[in-house]
Amino acid sequence: MRIDVVTIFPEYLEPLNVSLVGKARARGLLDVRLHDLREWTHDKHNTVDDTPYGGGPGMVMKPDPWGEALDAVIGSGVQGEEPPVLVVPTPSGRPFTQELAVELSEKPWLVFTPARYEGIDRRVIEEYGDRLDVREVSIGDYVLAGGEAPVLVMVEAVARLLPGVLGNAESHRDDSFAPGAMADLLEGPVYTKPPEWRGRGIPDVLLSGHHGKIARWRRDEAFRRTVRNRPDLIERADPAAFDKKDREI
Ligand code: ADE
Repeated sequence: MRIDVVTIFPEYLEPLNVSLVGKARARGLLDVRLHDLREWTHDKHNTVDDTPYGGGPGMVMKPDPWGEALDAVIGSGVQGEEPPVLVVPTPSGRPFTQELAVELSEKPWLVFTPARYEGIDRRVIEEYGDRLDVREVSIGDYVLAGGEAPVLVMVEAVARLLPGVLGNAESHRDDSFAPGAMADLLEGPVYTKPPEWRGRGIPDVLLSGHHGKIARWRRDEAFRRTVRNRPDLIERADPAAFDKKDREI
């Protein structure tokens, strides 16, 4: 997969050199290219923002540098191959979910446009929306100073789904929000050695070696945790996903 990020803070994205994403890049599973938006400005102050039409606080990112930058990045693709999906991080976007992460992980090319200030001139989104699949995406109901941290979040969520990135191919099967038998439930608690730590032991069932009982226990714990932390997920779920045992919890 190829990922391009156009930003006025390329250094903000240095974490993409470390850990899971950094390793995926080093192994050639992921091609990440960072671009400094200011390279597409032509004045001596490299201006990327201006005051909003209609008044109001803050500044708006100018369309000209974005247009030139995106034309250059999109135009660098291979003729005849699938164009990129443009991902625009904004608190006014659709929620970023595991489902969207899976969908994006199946695309060959993503271009992210993290904005600062009050956002990007609307005409840029319209212009590329006419030609490309453009997704305005929010990572949560809070406002950050810019879209760079959301890009780090989204790239990590997508990269770990790419074939070959996780050591164990099954590692994301049981993730919270992963499709499958435990869909709609959060992941339950986990334990490792030592068997006793500060007087606290391990639930007996995990030491029993009884796979059926362990699976049932994991599901009950997942259900309990979801009821406690995310009752909205239970309400939204298909009632057929729950059994009699769940209802006793
Ligand atoms: N930019 C600022 N806040 C954001 C958020 N919550 N999600 C995506 N982009 C943002």
